Amino acid sequence: MKKILLTGATGFVGKNVQKYLENKYDVTGIGSEWDLRNATKVSHAFDLFNPDIVIHAAGSVGGIGANKDNPGKFLYDNLIMGTHMIQEAKSRNLSKFIMLGTVCSYPKFASVPFKEEDIWLGYPEETNAPYGIAKKTLMKMVETYNEQYGFRGVNLIPVNMYGPHDHFNLTTSHVIPALILKIKTAINNKHSSITVWGSGSVSREFLYVEDLARAIELSIETNVGPSPINIGTGSEISIKDLVNLIADLMGYQGKIIYDSSKPDGQPRRCLDTSKAKKLLGFEAKIGLEEGLKKTIKWYEESINNGN
Ligand SMILES: NC(=O)c1ccc[n+]([C@@H]2O[C@H](COP(=O)([O-])OP(=O)(O)OC[C@H]3O[C@@H](n4cnc5c(N)ncnc54)[C@H](OP(=O)(O)O)[C@@H]3O)[C@@H](O)[C@H]2O)c1
Repeated sequence: MKKILLTGATGFVGKNVQKYLENKYDVTGIGSEWDLRNATKVSHAFDLFNPDIVIHAAGSVGGIGANKDNPGKFLYDNLIMGTHMIQEAKSRNLSKFIMLGTVCSYPKFASVPFKEEDIWLGYPEETNAPYGIAKKTLMKMVETYNEQYGFRGVNLIPVNMYGPHDHFNLTTSHVIPALILKIKTAINNKHSSITVWGSGSVSREFLYVEDLARAIELSIETNVGPSPINIGTGSEISIKDLVNLIADLMGYQGKIIYDSSKPDGQPRRCLDTSKAKKLLGFEAKIGLEEGLKKTIKWYEESINNGN
């Protein structure tokens, strides 16, 4: 069985990726007990775990609020962790290094749907630019190391994800868990309305996290190079429609108020997913309604279990 070293394994994406891959691979997952900002620790982890494949899913991340509060930390942490991981991996005989990039790297006004070759055409949306710039610099590092040293890296650009093990709190959550939490709280407390950040008019695309795990599996098993590949569903939804869908699925009938004084973030987000289909044979299988039902069910079970 091939050995995988998975960073970020204690996080939302990492937990799902580890669960999905561990029937087929010998997966060692690590979290921030191995502080990847420290080059010596990174080198030690490679010595100790001696992986054939690395999936770099560690990151300093969050929603709009967390990005606004941590521009320096998000830039530094992501850049330095990825730099150490790629630099160390280059000197080892790995069969694959999977780098998780982000849709936040795209220019604010990239033409929709976003195509991989347009990623350098402009500055990202301001609230998440430091994080997005760090990630796209790392993607370029994977590409240049492939060109110069034959580094076997793969760059995946996942769109916003959701699913089990996501973070449900009002300070660092991404939009879907934040909405589920808000609506659950309103139902429990019989609130007649909820307030949602932003105008509700912007659009987003959402990928169920298990679909990303399958894209990673295909990237390991397919002979594919470092040229970035979008991973998404290829369909967008407005925040208003998303809120209404989640409210319907959870049975909430209160009023929804949009607080336009709060930032909207990028105006539209939707990926062109044709390259993933062509190179990896990847297409998302889990639609938004099905994925939301699974996520809400997981969340309700986790509260009932006292987690
Ligand atoms: N969530 C999304 O929608 C999304 C979309 C596109 C790309 N991504 C990418 O996917 C990756 C994982 O995101 P996520 O949503 O799963 O985030 P998350 O739940 O916050 O998990 C972050 C992971 O990184 C680890 N980590 C943080 N700082 C570290 C450090 N200094 N050294 C070592 N490990 C550290 C955390 O360990 P601890 O648990 O021990 O703190 C945790 O395992 C990120 O690289 C992100 O850019 C996520």
